Amino acid sequence: MTSVQLTDLEKQLQELDSESAVAIAAATTLEQLEQLRVAYLGKKGQLGLILRGMGQLPGEERPRIGALANTVKEALQNKLEQRQSALQAAQIESVLAAETIDVSMPGVQRPQGRIHPLNGVIDRVFDICVGLGYTVATGPEMETDYYNFEALNTPPDHPARDMQDTFYLPDGNLLRTHTSSVQIRYMESHTPPLRIVAPGRVYRRDTVDATHSAVFHQIELLAIDKGLTFTDLKGTIKEFLRQMFGEVAIRFRPSYFPFTEPSAEVDVQWQGRWLEVLGCGMVDPNVLKIVGYDPEAYTGFAAGFGVERFAMVLHEIDDIRRLYASDLRFLRQF
Ligand code: DAH
Repeated sequence: MTSVQLTDLEKQLQELDSESAVAIAAATTLEQLEQLRVAYLGKKGQLGLILRGMGQLPGEERPRIGALANTVKEALQNKLEQRQSALQAAQIESVLAAETIDVSMPGVQRPQGRIHPLNGVIDRVFDICVGLGYTVATGPEMETDYYNFEALNTPPDHPARDMQDTFYLPDGNLLRTHTSSVQIRYMESHTPPLRIVAPGRVYRRDTVDATHSAVFHQIELLAIDKGLTFTDLKGTIKEFLRQMFGEVAIRFRPSYFPFTEPSAEVDVQWQGRWLEVLGCGMVDPNVLKIVGYDPEAYTGFAAGFGVERFAMVLHEIDDIRRLYASDLRFLRQF
């Protein structure tokens, strides 16, 4: 073993020490650092290569060179660890910096949507009716003759069919002309007592003008229980209209609907005029029988009204077509 070899190993270790210090300090990513770790300390790394030369050293030199190798190795590990911490910290810093929110920046103004006046009325009606113990129910817009007419005590030759000009579909079904059809569907699938409020679109072959639309919205009320009387109907309608329109005068007028007996129409005094706002009545015993209820045991009342009508009265809207025109100048007022 010559002293040249000895100096060689010593020199190699010292070079590894200083070279690696420069390379590790220059690493800018954790991936680069990992590559360096493998190159220096890995199985086939530089340190291992150098140590393999140790076997050829004279015995007395081994401890000294071995100690040096250990020092270099530990130094290498320290440098790698320190750089790793530094790079990790820098990475966190940069993520934080990128995600910083400048709270002093002016905000972005987003246009604010509004509740459509028709939905506004429906929401209000729900609030009132749920407060009175009613549950929301719905039914299909495409209906059978049975649910729209027949089960509502309106057989095919009944003159009341002329009250509502109907859109018939080629298959004999129809577009419901009123939400009263929901009464039948609900009663068929539930047992009394019950109280429902049923909103929805309805269809009629009306010529469109300032007060008519071929598609509009109705809300139906139905209550069935033991011992319900016309007084309950009146009290409910009065309270409902009070919450809807405030302290206004109201009046009940006798009327006719095939599915109620007796029937009434209700007017409210609004800006000095009597305005008709809804139809109502005690559910006809025939209707109760049709859905399998015993009319001796149960009575009920029902009411139906137009949502557009309510919206127009409440907001002083002069033309029903404004409600469907999607004109933002109109809609922004609500
Ligand atoms: N369905 C009737 C219509 O569209 C309104 C109506 C009247 C509904 C009396 C009712 C009622 O529930 O009892 O003209």
